[in-house]
Amino acid sequence: MPRNKVLIIDYGSQVTQLIARRVREAGVYSEILPSWATAEEIRERDPGALILSGGPCSVGQAGAPDFNPALLELGVPVLGICYGLQLLAHQLGGSLAHSEDREYGPAELELTAPSPLFEGLAVKSRVWMSHGDKVETAPAGFTVLARTKNVQVAAVGDELRRIYGVQFHPEVHHSEIGAGLIKNFLGLAGLRADWNMASFVESSLAGIRKQVGGGQVICALSGGVDSTVVAVLLNRAIGAKLHCIFVDHGLLRQDEAAEVRDRIAPHHKLNLTVVEASELFLGRLAGVENPEEKRKIIGRTFIEVFEKEAAKLGRVDFLAQGTIYPDVIESVSPLGPSVMIKSHHNVGGLPEKMNLALVEPLRELFKDEVRGVAAELGLPEEFIWRQPFPGPGLAIRIIGAVDREKLETLRRADAIVQEELKASGWYRKIWQGFAVLLPLKTVGVMGDGRTYENVVAIRAVNSVDAMTADWSRLPYDFLEILSRRIINEVNGVNRVVYDISPKPPGTIEWE
Ligand code: XMP
Repeated sequence: MPRNKVLIIDYGSQVTQLIARRVREAGVYSEILPSWATAEEIRERDPGALILSGGPCSVGQAGAPDFNPALLELGVPVLGICYGLQLLAHQLGGSLAHSEDREYGPAELELTAPSPLFEGLAVKSRVWMSHGDKVETAPAGFTVLARTKNVQVAAVGDELRRIYGVQFHPEVHHSEIGAGLIKNFLGLAGLRADWNMASFVESSLAGIRKQVGGGQVICALSGGVDSTVVAVLLNRAIGAKLHCIFVDHGLLRQDEAAEVRDRIAPHHKLNLTVVEASELFLGRLAGVENPEEKRKIIGRTFIEVFEKEAAKLGRVDFLAQGTIYPDVIESVSPLGPSVMIKSHHNVGGLPEKMNLALVEPLRELFKDEVRGVAAELGLPEEFIWRQPFPGPGLAIRIIGAVDREKLETLRRADAIVQEELKASGWYRKIWQGFAVLLPLKTVGVMGDGRTYENVVAIRAVNSVDAMTADWSRLPYDFLEILSRRIINEVNGVNRVVYDISPKPPGTIEWE
């Protein structure tokens, strides 16, 4: 009996993760493997259905991802999308037409033959296209199911073998019948829609208990959503065997430590130790200007403080971490396994150093699913929507050396930015918004006097995964409120600027 999950093979499309999310939204668990996964890795997953993603290459082009015959040997239903369709067609004896021009954007799809894949969906609808090549003749055994003005073979199906392919992208919201098509595919594959956050919490509690047994677990609580969800989940699973440690390095935002210490921990009865270590961190950071050096000092000191605290607990067997799915899956470069793995961890280096086994209950989840779990666990709404905050904290938002006075200035300016973003509703519409302190004196005038003070930069970005980002188009009137309040209320600041750099080439943080 195949497992109740979909395996997605990634041929390098920008939107492969969207396929995984749409499948999960339809209630079925899904996982992604890169196109060069071995037959063994594919078989090991034991999927109930396969989806082959799109990709930027042309089938047969030098270095383009190949079709792995092990995929068809599984005998489970297959859906190829764009490049995935072309690979399937090529493999099974159809022919492709190559074009130098890419068709990109909306097209009108017209269904031309009945199929369970399109059951109950509109005969004519708008779909999203992004392709150069297309299928010219479908392989033997396949029926053409749909067309558009430019593409005669826009969807094909072999109902006997339950192999399907579409030229358009059903995973993109602009494809009106996309969600319906994915739901139909899951239905014809016989998969049950039983993946939701309540069922996740339930199976995760059992999984944690099984993994941990009678062992002791420590967790570095950062105050962010991921580590807090991990802590609350583990606490529910194993109670007092979980020990949370919150290191206050003095680089946090206003009221941040207090919220975790005084609100969340008592409410969820977390076994929490708060270590006040700002003296130590700021002492070591004194006079250090180089960003990488600052990050390294903070990382090293964090591990040192954490280890010292953990040693007081006696025997510890596991370290719980808030790793999530985007941290785990490889970002696929379309032309082969030149893999890049994201490695932004607040507690980087801890597990190796302390020789502890890892408990990572969120490894399978996307960020929005983590928020769903947070809601399921009863964490406060405002907390659930908290924007990301970097492990090294405000230290990487103060250009150059860090000291208490600069931290205080930035904390005040940032508190105004947070307050206004929340009050205006912009907080939920952007990925991140914050203040940066540039200890760079400029001349100004206030009242009757000349001033010579610091600059604060506002950074606000839109992003889906922080790998790329664009600056948020915040209204001028809103920026004006931020500027006026910061200049009036924060001592030592007489100028506010807005950062309009995209990533790349700029990063989200300034250091
Ligand atoms: P950059 O500056 O690389 O940031 O564009 C991308 C995202 O990662 C966050 N960030 C970090 N998060 N530890 C973290 O946990 C770090 O050292 C770190 N540095 C940057 C940043 O806030 C943004 O969301």
